[in-house]
Amino acid sequence: MPTYIAAIDQGTTSTRCIVFDRSGAIVSLAQKEHRQIYPQPGWVEHDPDEIWRNTLEVIALARIKAKLQVGDIAAVGITNQRETTVVWNRRTGKPYYNALVWQDMRTADYVSRFSNDGGQDRFRAKTGLPLATYFSGLKLRWLLDNVDGLRADAERGDALFGNMDTFLVWNLTGGPQGGLHLTDQTNASRTQLMDLETLNWDNELLQAFDVPRAMLPDIRPSSGDFGTVSSEVLPGVPIAGILGDQQAALVGQTCFEPGQAKNTYGTGCFLLMNTGTELRHSTYGLLTTVAYQFRGQPVHYALEGSVAITGALVQWLRDNLGIIKNSVDIEKLAGSVDDNGGAYFVPAFSGLYAPYWKADARGVIAGLTRFVNKGHLARAVLEATAYQTVDVVRAMEQDASVKLSSLRVDGGMTVNDLLMQFQSDVLDVPVVRPTITETTALGAAYAAGLAVGYWNGLDDLRQNWGIARTYEPKMEPDTRSRLLHGWQKAVERSFGWED
Ligand code: G3P
Repeated sequence: MPTYIAAIDQGTTSTRCIVFDRSGAIVSLAQKEHRQIYPQPGWVEHDPDEIWRNTLEVIALARIKAKLQVGDIAAVGITNQRETTVVWNRRTGKPYYNALVWQDMRTADYVSRFSNDGGQDRFRAKTGLPLATYFSGLKLRWLLDNVDGLRADAERGDALFGNMDTFLVWNLTGGPQGGLHLTDQTNASRTQLMDLETLNWDNELLQAFDVPRAMLPDIRPSSGDFGTVSSEVLPGVPIAGILGDQQAALVGQTCFEPGQAKNTYGTGCFLLMNTGTELRHSTYGLLTTVAYQFRGQPVHYALEGSVAITGALVQWLRDNLGIIKNSVDIEKLAGSVDDNGGAYFVPAFSGLYAPYWKADARGVIAGLTRFVNKGHLARAVLEATAYQTVDVVRAMEQDASVKLSSLRVDGGMTVNDLLMQFQSDVLDVPVVRPTITETTALGAAYAAGLAVGYWNGLDDLRQNWGIARTYEPKMEPDTRSRLLHGWQKAVERSFGWED
């Protein structure tokens, strides 16, 4: 049996290839960033060809770094930024347009128009999602309406739709020479075109969004057969797992029991709670989504609180204001003051997602006085991540009627001790950082490894999970209430900006 599993993690800012061994330890890692394209305010695009080239490059580099032969890799798993929408031509492989990124807001008018008839929740019962600029369905509709010739090609079956998982699998399995057009249930559950119960594309939804079925990929369980790599970077290696990146992190954190939850701190924050085989609908602004389906097991669902901007706010402070030079510098600057000095930063750059779903919200800095300096601002930036997490945790507790006992965390921002301590303080529960924090790629590796028998079952995976550090809450209740009250006031100020 070959010794390792490879995972491709195609994220919002970069593409990575990570190779894992049976204990979940990293054997090799390669990463490449891609361009963020902002054609106008609120629009965000990626170049799919650049991402495909980067994918080949990072796989090759990961192999070179650890001197891996193709025969050393048992299978490859793919995980990806969800919702980001690509359309390309079946014969040439050429994209019709740049990928519309999940944060892109050009469909705001469509959201209002579609909501006129039945409200923002008109598709929630079937899809678990409110109408929002976030999901793929309306992005695809925008492309069909705005790219010359696309609709006719789509109806003929010449134009293909996919999220980044589908685009990569198609290219890895041969591209124009017989590439497979596939996705998994977790990604499909973010298009707003799939019925969460039948786990298939739904005619009524396709009609409502006016999307031709011929352009949609086949939907498969997350762990199983997604074809074999034909490209020379990993020839003959089976693609055996696909998971949207947040579902992958849930799996990487081994949250397999109903009630177990994780929060991933990346560009945004995504808190998912496993609800088992029960499809639970939210009344407090969360999403219902597919968590995973492994071989021989029923499909599992999750409740999700998605926050669009967290780590991206730190990058904004670095790139747009130049207040810090590197992202990690924010911890020192924030640590130069005792508190936020009364300032709150609501980063509603893409409107506000969960639990508010306000497309018309825009960023706000509130509570400024002459006392506030850049240390306080840095602190307000970090605190915004923690407060937004509190908002989704409280919604989750109300939806699930349970109180969270601790929070498993992962993602880039969890190295920030000040933030993790503050998170525990304002949540008033312990925050637990595991030994392996590359949970997204690990989850995809787990899905692939389970399919090919590299790991025998969930117990093998649970054994790989261990605690690196626990942050216990230390804040006085009065301080917590005062801060959360200030945050709520600031959030309300961000509403209704874009009308
Ligand atoms: O839903 C969007 C999410 O999948 C993006 O995750 O880690 O690429 O920012 P990330």
